[in-house]
Amino acid sequence: MQQHLQHPIFGILANVADQQQTKAFVIGGFVRDLFLSRPSKDIDIVVVGNGISFAEKTGEKLGAKVAVFKNFGTAMLRYNELEIEFVGARKESYRSNSRKPIVENGTLEDDQLRRDFTINALALSLNQENFGQLIDPFNGISDLEHKIIRTPLAPDLTFSDDPLRMMRAIRFATQLGFKIAEDAINAIKSQKNRISIVSKERITDELNKIILAKTPSVGFNYLFDTGLLHLIFPQMTALYGVEIVKGKGHKDNFYHTLQVLDNISLHTDDLWLRWAAILHDIAKPATKRFEEGHGWTFHGHEDRGARMVPQIFAQLKLPLNEKMKFVQKLVQLHLRPIVLAQEKVTDSAVRRLLFEAGEEIDSLMMLCNADVTTKNEYKIKKYRNNFELVKQKLKDVEERDQLRNWQPPITGNDIMLTFGLAAGKEVGILKNAIREAILEGEIKNNYEEAFNYMLEKAKDLGFTPIGN
Ligand code: CTP
Repeated sequence: MQQHLQHPIFGILANVADQQQTKAFVIGGFVRDLFLSRPSKDIDIVVVGNGISFAEKTGEKLGAKVAVFKNFGTAMLRYNELEIEFVGARKESYRSNSRKPIVENGTLEDDQLRRDFTINALALSLNQENFGQLIDPFNGISDLEHKIIRTPLAPDLTFSDDPLRMMRAIRFATQLGFKIAEDAINAIKSQKNRISIVSKERITDELNKIILAKTPSVGFNYLFDTGLLHLIFPQMTALYGVEIVKGKGHKDNFYHTLQVLDNISLHTDDLWLRWAAILHDIAKPATKRFEEGHGWTFHGHEDRGARMVPQIFAQLKLPLNEKMKFVQKLVQLHLRPIVLAQEKVTDSAVRRLLFEAGEEIDSLMMLCNADVTTKNEYKIKKYRNNFELVKQKLKDVEERDQLRNWQPPITGNDIMLTFGLAAGKEVGILKNAIREAILEGEIKNNYEEAFNYMLEKAKDLGFTPIGN
């Protein structure tokens, strides 16, 4: 393994280990990622002894500032692009109502045993006599080869020590395309309620990592099957299931949503666009009706869904800022291109869509494409063809009418000055009339046509311009 520790930093750490006559190891994610050939800039060092004084010695040698976290017995320093964390080897035991451990000093193996997964418990020695030697008491390398997430201890203990690890197991399985060992899945099922002692922020951090993986459905299926999803995001599990009335069923909106999420993930790494995919049908359970002669309907689920977004963001501690507004807008508008694609694609309908979606039009089109999950080849073809038509029309209309960031060619102020009006209802009526005429294509989106149209419209309403 020596060849893996080529970076000069490891030579320096080895020197410190010798001078301090302390055993020191690289451990955890960095070692795992070495074997997976994934580049990593976070290095965790475990020292059999005092991690803080080891960090301070290293800092002196590197001329780097060391941040010490006395309460945790850890220290951290940055060296060029690397972030290096130091900790003394420990034997941990946890209390049942908190994630904060009671810590005692321990051996390397004690420390490895208390880590989350065998693939995260691999250690490489930094001491001269066995520099680079792999210490793998729990067959982490074999688990890496077999693509399996397994705990070093009995999984009930590992998860009970730190319930966030249930989320981490699912996150690693999703990121790496691994399977979670059967006994670990069963342990998550029985320990799931302990997720309640973990902060919402940390849960959502893991959830976001799952969402950003190549195939996020892998993680959501694990979350659903273990029962964790019901606890952390019940609105999403409400999408699950098919109801049948008079022989008519609707599609399972949970699996449909996962399909849409995977589809969109093929085309974008944007977390918020992926969130829009997760939430696009979130109000279907709340709006579901069986209508005689019609079958299942979900009228207004896009409006209701958009209204649910802020509450869901708050509950999951997601940011309540323009990211949320973006998701809300896409949920609100997600049916529009598809409705358009089903009907005759008129210029005015396209103009209205562009006007409402603004800068978000490309994201919206992407979401709509991803939303086509029918298995019916004929329907797929039809939708895709119509989408192409909508896209082409969007392009034409945009070039011609510049509606993406539409600013009214005639402002309220222009109207007031022209007719000597005070701010009020009349100004609004004229402004709306001009906008409607542009969207309907009756006039072009420019000052001159809008001005003339305004004069005409004003005449109908009985206003005359000042000076006439
Ligand atoms: N660890 C653990 N239990 C946790 C968190 C971390 O046992 N709840 C241990 C694991 O050995 C892990 C190491 O601490 O490898 C570092 O944790 P972290 O930096 O959170 O994760 P990485 O494994 O480095 O992976 P990533 O950077 O993808 O989060």
